[in-house]
Amino acid sequence: MDFKTQINTADVPNHIAIIMDGNGRWAKSHSKPRIFGHKKGVLSVRSVVEGAGEVGVKYLTLYAFSTENWNRPKVEVAALMQLLVVTISKEVASLNKNNVRLLTIGDLKSLPGNCERELEKAKEKTKNNTGLNLVLALSYSSKSEIVRTVKSIATKVSEKKIDVSDIDSDLISDYLDTAAMPNPELLVRTSGEYRLSNFLLWQIAYSELYFTNKFWPDFTKEDLFEAIVDYQKRERRFGLTSEQIKN
Ligand code: IPE
Ligand code: IPE
Ligand code: MG
Repeated sequence: MDFKTQINTADVPNHIAIIMDGNGRWAKSHSKPRIFGHKKGVLSVRSVVEGAGEVGVKYLTLYAFSTENWNRPKVEVAALMQLLVVTISKEVASLNKNNVRLLTIGDLKSLPGNCERELEKAKEKTKNNTGLNLVLALSYSSKSEIVRTVKSIATKVSEKKIDVSDIDSDLISDYLDTAAMPNPELLVRTSGEYRLSNFLLWQIAYSELYFTNKFWPDFTKEDLFEAIVDYQKRERRFGLTSEQIKN
């Protein structure tokens, strides 16, 4: 099935967020160690970034490492960090070639020094690109993001730079890591799990959710196109009636 040709180019989501899950189970099903699945998962990232660019998605946010993932076995965490450094340094040239700007959300300072430096370098080198914004969620969890946000707003209030009466939904959005990004219209999760695992809870208040049983290493741009086609069949009502939406 060629899903790309079925996409209505006038209604492509501006922002797609993906919970890339199932690397470990994919590796297990191939009798390989977990890290083999993570490495294969990088190829899926490449394919999906390419596909998102092709159909004009503006923001693609990928959940790459959660705050909770720090509690995995030390060897797996170390291997993931190593994979991150190697991948970022290898991919910068092709990001630039494809006009992709790299951004991050999460607590970057908690990453090993070489990871943080490599990411800062890559963000700097791609900052003038005007195509796809590729947002990596690293050492990210929604609740810790919200805690950091509440602390910065409270600090401004105590310094009298913000009045309590100024606090509204827009102001809170402006203090999140995702400030200046549109909310995702579409959230995808792979591997057959039906949960959010502490990802973008504020930002996906009205997102369409799409679940697939495919493990992340088997997911390609064609699967992304399929998700977009599915999204385009839905009616987003935002609390209104169907009749109101049509008029
Ligand atoms: C997703 O795959 C990648 C990360 C969370 C880093 P998993 O490693 O969670 O794979 P499963 O869920 O164990 O199969
Ligand atoms: C969510 O996957 C985090 C990432 C994809 C980076 P997990 O595999 O960590 O989520 P749970 O533990 O199954 O909820
Ligand atoms: Mg998982």
